[in-house]
Amino acid sequence: MKASVVANKDFTVGKIDNRVYGAFLEHLGRAIYEGIYEPDHASADQNGMRGDVAKLVKDLNVPVVRYPGGNFVSAYNWEDGVGPREERPTRLDLAWHTSDSNAVGVHEFADWCDSVGTEMMLAVNLGSRGVDDARNFLEYVNHPGGSYWSDLRIKNGRKEPFNVKMWCLGNEMDGPWQVGHKDADEYGKLAANTARAMRMFDSELELIVCGSSNADMASYPDWERIVLEHTYEHVDHISLHMYFANRDKDTPNYLALNHKLERYIETVAATIKQVKSKKRTKHDVYISFDEWNVWYHSNKQDREILDGGNGWPHAPGLLEDIYNFEDVLQVGLVLNSFIRHSDVVKIACIAQLVNVIAPIMTEKGGPAWKQTIYYPYYFASVYGRGTALNLLVNSPGYESNHEDNTPFVDLSSVHNEDDGTLSFFLVNRHGTESIEVDIDLQGFAAGEVIDHQVMTHSRLDAVNTAKNQSEVAPRKGEGAKVADGSLRLTLPPYSYQMVRVK
Ligand code: AHR
Repeated sequence: MKASVVANKDFTVGKIDNRVYGAFLEHLGRAIYEGIYEPDHASADQNGMRGDVAKLVKDLNVPVVRYPGGNFVSAYNWEDGVGPREERPTRLDLAWHTSDSNAVGVHEFADWCDSVGTEMMLAVNLGSRGVDDARNFLEYVNHPGGSYWSDLRIKNGRKEPFNVKMWCLGNEMDGPWQVGHKDADEYGKLAANTARAMRMFDSELELIVCGSSNADMASYPDWERIVLEHTYEHVDHISLHMYFANRDKDTPNYLALNHKLERYIETVAATIKQVKSKKRTKHDVYISFDEWNVWYHSNKQDREILDGGNGWPHAPGLLEDIYNFEDVLQVGLVLNSFIRHSDVVKIACIAQLVNVIAPIMTEKGGPAWKQTIYYPYYFASVYGRGTALNLLVNSPGYESNHEDNTPFVDLSSVHNEDDGTLSFFLVNRHGTESIEVDIDLQGFAAGEVIDHQVMTHSRLDAVNTAKNQSEVAPRKGEGAKVADGSLRLTLPPYSYQMVRVK
């Protein structure tokens, strides 16, 4: 089987916002406690943060981490997580039917962000709370001093303001599962009022309003239109979420789900344009895809805790999906979709980062290791920075539930003008056939392949574990060549690869 591609230097989607490779950490399960924070662990620093986890996060070069939720934020009192640890209250978390000691709060999280070289993106509680708490939190976090909340921050040990630029106006407020769930008009008015108040403090903040929790919500896409009609001038991004599942063990349809994702992005981009026209404004709003990942492996085992059958445990092992090789392909495909839509998707957060539906897993007192999906995320985050190309792809395809002709070859490409490299991220959706790909490099002086990484496995259900940490891992690719202005390579059945030329 063969496929051909044209990569022309002048056919671009646009400059990628690096924040598209962001991540998310919620007070949920073992994401924070036993994930990034484990004071008794051998690698813990003076703040109790695990050094081995921090190293794996640093390697990913994560530009931004969203915190503290998620569903958790909709009944969170941020004040519980500041001040002397021994005085912090343990609270019940209604979203996940657990309890939280509040040993980690905004100070500890900010220090951790500094230590791993990432920027903090905060969410305010618009479920059980509103404008008043949002403005107080903002003053605590960003005001230099001389006011009640900023002086409290200083008293709590942090002289300089945290200067957080990105703020989410609540989380998934369209979802009936959300504490304080609202309809689009109610939420739109509250979000607009909150945004206005926050901007009175600092007009330069980047504000993110809630879009739909997923594209199957009955209120989608009217939700986006109504919410934006209330908030358009006061916000910079609208947030979307999507999780991917293969419950029916139907790989061809599973691997076509990023077409559904692309329709979702394109529909919301069109809604943004519609509201922009209606408002007669020059102001642009973009998409913050601040929750995405594969999530289904752990659903059954989580039922008991989520139904309350297990009391109110502290940091139980919730949402601990163990990812397989098939999920490598899915994560590669999703990242390709974001790169191809980087003109409208400016922020995206893999959900989540550690233990909870995450590329990094930990054992209490034991090792931290890379799940299978760590790798496609790593390759895109580290090498997918620059300008996204608008590729012309001619590939044979198949009928799926999500697209009439789902191409077997899915790829994206990023031109890094700074170092002159051109990177391709490719997935072969065909389960039995290799595909020879010919990429016509127009306008590039590329002379050789400088890096080629391949991920294949004989079993789609192969996983990495604490004991066998590299069952699924990339290996050096062979046979990719640049000749006569073309890059030629072969994609084995069900494979992910990254190839870079210069
Ligand atoms: O990431 C897990 C949960 O998924 C988040 O708390 C919520 O926002 C979404 O439904």
